[in-house]
Amino acid sequence: MDLYKFNIHRQKRQVIHSSQVKFLMFLFLSVFMIVSCKENKTKSSEQNEKQNSIIVGFSQIGAESAWRTCNTESMKKAAREAGIQLLYENAEQKQENQIKALRSFIAYQVDVIVFVPIVQKGWDNVLREAKEAGIPVILSDRKIQTSDETLYAGLISTNSEQQGRNAAKYLVEKFEGRKKVNIVEIRGTDGSSVVEGRYNGFREIISQHPEFEIVASETGDFLRSKGKEAMQLLIEECKEKNIKIDAIYSHNDGMILGAFDTLRKHNMEPGKDVVIVSIDAEQAAIDALKEGLINCVIECNPDTGALIIEIVKNLVAGNQIPRVTYVSETVFPDYSDLSKIEPRGY
Ligand code: AHR
Repeated sequence: MDLYKFNIHRQKRQVIHSSQVKFLMFLFLSVFMIVSCKENKTKSSEQNEKQNSIIVGFSQIGAESAWRTCNTESMKKAAREAGIQLLYENAEQKQENQIKALRSFIAYQVDVIVFVPIVQKGWDNVLREAKEAGIPVILSDRKIQTSDETLYAGLISTNSEQQGRNAAKYLVEKFEGRKKVNIVEIRGTDGSSVVEGRYNGFREIISQHPEFEIVASETGDFLRSKGKEAMQLLIEECKEKNIKIDAIYSHNDGMILGAFDTLRKHNMEPGKDVVIVSIDAEQAAIDALKEGLINCVIECNPDTGALIIEIVKNLVAGNQIPRVTYVSETVFPDYSDLSKIEPRGY
């Protein structure tokens, strides 16, 4: 009986107990849901706030080409769209201005520094200062030479060696069967990694074909006006040596577009009397390709902003980032379907 009672009692207690448990569970779940909902809201608003409060210092080389202007715009747009504050500095083609800009970003204590190193050497001191201040640095577009690879977090770049190789491959195809091909080269900014890459990549392929010779090379500093001057020097040099120029390899579109007048002044019709291959793929060069004034354009992709901003966000969030990221690029030879080329936007 007791047992039964006990049982009843137990049962009663159990009933009471289970309803209590249900009630407590309901209470607990409600409280839990409210708290976690609040927490989630706080977390995501904290994340948003953190993201919105990211400050990036961006030191650009200048505005030497249509490519560069597009590259700057890509970065500004990506930062704006991500709600990231971008402190932008234009170095007007001077390394000392970039170093000053980097120092001002350090003094301002930005979260991340992004910069396009105009040349490869001479960055160690200022990058060490950034490292000591705990500010990660991302290289955009160009590489640096340093004794300490820990001075920067990552590089987002175009592949300049490959661009040089692609330019040479086009010429090798174009002049197939020819016994002798004389090439002149208009280089971009000496000392920059992109020129080194385009110079070496081109030679890597050309050196496998003894019928090809790079007979002269001049710098045009990636500028249209200097491209014109460089072309004049190249023509004079070749005339002196009695060399006929068969092909021109220009490290960017602006320089060769600037050299058209010089070529015509010397009775050389671009794209016909002399084969031209150029790098960047800005709209003006694509138009010239369609008109037969340039024979092949190698794309250098300036649209790196979104990728850089994604990497910036990962860095700030404490995530690992890739050491080197190359953007995708293509080649536009004269024999391809040129009507399919989308407007370039630069
Ligand atoms: O570093 C990329 C090069 O710099 C582009 O090919 C050129 O146009 C620019 O100014």
